[in-house]
Amino acid sequence: MILKITQYGNPVLRVKCRAIEDVNEDVMQLADDMIETMVDANGVGLAAPQVGKEVRMAVVDVSHDPDCVSFLRVNGEDVDMKDIMPLVFINPQLELEGARESESEGCLSIHDIQANVRRPSMVKATLTQLDGSVMELESDGLLARALQHEVDHLNGILFVDRISPAAKVSIKRKLRRLGVK
Ligand code: NI
Repeated sequence: MILKITQYGNPVLRVKCRAIEDVNEDVMQLADDMIETMVDANGVGLAAPQVGKEVRMAVVDVSHDPDCVSFLRVNGEDVDMKDIMPLVFINPQLELEGARESESEGCLSIHDIQANVRRPSMVKATLTQLDGSVMELESDGLLARALQHEVDHLNGILFVDRISPAAKVSIKRKLRRLGVK
């Protein structure tokens, strides 16, 4: 089922989401619905608060561009991107590595705004899967960026919080039009 995507100004986007302790039917259904919603919206990622749920789960799919990373390892082994996408994960933990790089980002909850965000170029992510197994994922490029963007959502942080003050000035009016401040 395609869910309604919450938009900038909705307080649910500012909540620190709670961990998922029990992967029950509702969580499984939510995961399916989030993938369907992300695909329908042509997004590369979607976090639970973006569909109004205050839990630590997100989905990511960057397989439209297998060259968007220079390496991808799962549990220490090189893997094909298509074998792990779409990626569904709960209670993620990230270790950030590498120099910070600036790239353009957008968000399904913030219409019509793109801005450059500086983020560390590599991540080591500990991602719990719905079956309880834990995936240690290491990568860079768009996947590293998408993981950081989605984990930010689980902590109530939006990409516009991370842009430079100068860039913020230029989008301030647009943001105000979208709702808050
Ligand atoms: Ni987003």
